[in-house]
Amino acid sequence: MQKIFAANWKMYKTRSQASQSAQELAKGLGQMPAGQEVVVFAPFTAISCAADAFKGHAGLTVGGQNCYPAEEGAFTGETSPAMLRDAGAAWVLTGHSERRHIMGEDDALVARKTIFALEHGLNVLLCIGETLEQREAGKLNAVLERQLAAVFAAMPASLGGAALVGKLAVGYEPVWAIGTGKVAGPKEVLDAHAVTRALLGKLVGETASRLPILYGGSVKPNNAAGLMALDNVDGLLVGGASLEAQSFLQIIGA
Ligand code: PGA
Repeated sequence: MQKIFAANWKMYKTRSQASQSAQELAKGLGQMPAGQEVVVFAPFTAISCAADAFKGHAGLTVGGQNCYPAEEGAFTGETSPAMLRDAGAAWVLTGHSERRHIMGEDDALVARKTIFALEHGLNVLLCIGETLEQREAGKLNAVLERQLAAVFAAMPASLGGAALVGKLAVGYEPVWAIGTGKVAGPKEVLDAHAVTRALLGKLVGETASRLPILYGGSVKPNNAAGLMALDNVDGLLVGGASLEAQSFLQIIGA
C-alpha cells in the first residue's frame, strides 16, 4: 500500500514563508522511497513556490486545498483544477471539515468537486469525519457512509474501480480532533478506519484494499508512530504540526 504524509497548511504562509518551509522539507527528505509520498496542501498563492522547491525531489508533491468543479467561467473567487495544475499542484483536498462546516459545503458539492478534479487530472484526498455530536449520538458509521456514498454514487464508471488506484486517497478526520489537541485514541482510530475500509469495499469492491486511508486530527511528532502502526492507517494528514518543517519532518521520520 502506498503511504502518504500530507501537510495541510490551511490559510497560513506567505510565498516567502512557503518557499522556506518547502525548501527545508526538500532538504530534509531528499528523495522519498518508492511507495511513499509527501504532499503539501498549500494556500493557492503559495502552490507554485512549494512546487518549485520540490522540483527534482521524487515523491514530494503539492496540492491545492480546494477547487471549483468547472473548467472556467464566471465563478468569482474560485479556482479550477487546470489552474491548480498550472501552478504546480498534483493533488487537491476535497471535503475538508473546515470547508464542510465553515463554508457550508454539502455532500453533493464535495462529490462534484471530487469527480471533476479526478476527471481533470488531479489526485484527490477526500476527507470525511464525524462531529462530536454525531459520534455521541452513535452516528459514526452512518455519517461516514453518507459522505462516501455521495461521492461514489456520482462516480462515472470510467473513473471508478481500479482506475482510482494512485489517484484517490481518503482522509478520516474526526471533526472534534482537528486543531483541538485531542487526538482520537487508538481504538477510535482503528474502528473508524476499519469502518471506512469496509464501506469502501461495499462501494468499489476489491479496489478498496488499494486506496490509502489517512488519519488526521491533532497528529504530532509524539503520536505519529503509534497512529501509523494501526491497521488500515496508510498515512497522516497533518495541520498545525506541519507548519514548522522540522516538526513535519519528525512526523514523517517517526
Ligand atoms: P490539525 O489539522 O492537525 O491541526 O488537527 C488537521 C487537518 O485539519 O487536516
